Amino acid sequence: MLAEKIKKLKEEKNAVILAHYYVDEDVQDIADYIGDSFYLAKVATKVEQDRIIFAGVEFMGESAKILNPSKRVFMPDATADCPMAHMATKEEILKIKEQYEDVAVVCYINSTAELKTLSDVCVTSSNAVKIVKNLPNKNIFFIPDRNLGRFVANQVPEKNFIFNAGHCPRHTAMFESMVLEAKEAHPNAKFAAHPECTEEVLKHADYVGSTSGIIDYVKDADAEEFIIGTVDGVFHEIEKVAPGKKLYTIKPDQVCVNMKKVTLDKIVDVLENDTNEIFVEEEVAKKAMLPLTRMLELAK
Ligand code: 13P
Ligand code: SF4
Repeated sequence: MLAEKIKKLKEEKNAVILAHYYVDEDVQDIADYIGDSFYLAKVATKVEQDRIIFAGVEFMGESAKILNPSKRVFMPDATADCPMAHMATKEEILKIKEQYEDVAVVCYINSTAELKTLSDVCVTSSNAVKIVKNLPNKNIFFIPDRNLGRFVANQVPEKNFIFNAGHCPRHTAMFESMVLEAKEAHPNAKFAAHPECTEEVLKHADYVGSTSGIIDYVKDADAEEFIIGTVDGVFHEIEKVAPGKKLYTIKPDQVCVNMKKVTLDKIVDVLENDTNEIFVEEEVAKKAMLPLTRMLELAK
C-alpha cells in the first residue's frame, strides 16, 4: 500500500507532508497538515521535521522554503505551478513605484519569489482585507490577481487601488451565466465562492472567502445545499466536517490541473530519491522573506 510506504519513508527521512485542499483526496488523506495557503504558510514555520514535502503548487513550496531556509522542501511534481503566479512583471511594478510615491505593493502569495522581492507585503485570500486596511499607505498596487484585488478594494473604499491584469484561469472559467443556471437548478442552495472569481460571479454569492473559509461556512450554515465556487478539492474536507450536506459545482470540470499533478507515487519518489528539492537564490530569498514575514505579523 502506498499510504503505508509513505508513512514509513516519512519517519525514515524525518519528513512532514503539507497538502492544499485542491489536491486529490488520497493525497489529502496521507497529509500531516491540510489547509488553505495561509494556514500552510504558518504551519511551515512551525514544523519540527527536517524535510517538508509540499503537496501543492510551486509558490507554496517556495514560500515554505523562503520562510525556513534551514529546512529542505520538496515538490512531488516539479511542474505543478500556478499560472497566475507569473502574471505580473518587474517592469510594471517599477513603473507604478515611480508613478506613486507612497504606493504599497501588495502581493498575493500566489506569485513567484521574484515578484515577492519587489513587494511590501504578501497576502492570502483569508487575510488580504485585514492587512490592506491596516497598511499606512493610501495607494495600493495589488498583484497579480485582479479579482482578489477588486474584492479587497470593495471592502476598503478609503484606499486607492491600482490593479494588475492577472487572474486564475480556473476561477475565471466559472461564468456568471453558469452560476445563474446552477442557482435555478438548486433554488434552495447557498452559493459560496472564492474571491478569485470575477466580480460578476461574486455578486451572487452568499459567502466569499478562502478555501478554509468556504469549508467553515458550509459547516456552520443552516442550509443543507451549497453551490461551490472554487476547485472541487474542497469537497473532501467538507464531506468530513459536514457529512450529509449536498454540494454542487458550477461546471463539470472544476479542477486545478496543476494541483492534480500531485500523486501518491510521486510523493514516494521524492521521499525515496530526494528529487524536486526547492532552491531559492540567497539574495532573492532574503528579499522575498520580508513581505512574507510581514504578512505573518500583520495577520495576527
Ligand atoms: P486559498 O488560500 O483560499 O487556499 O487559495 C489558494 C488558491 O490557489 C486558490 O486558487
Ligand atoms: Fe493557481 Fe488557480 Fe490553481 Fe489556485 S486554482 S493554484 S490560483 S491555478
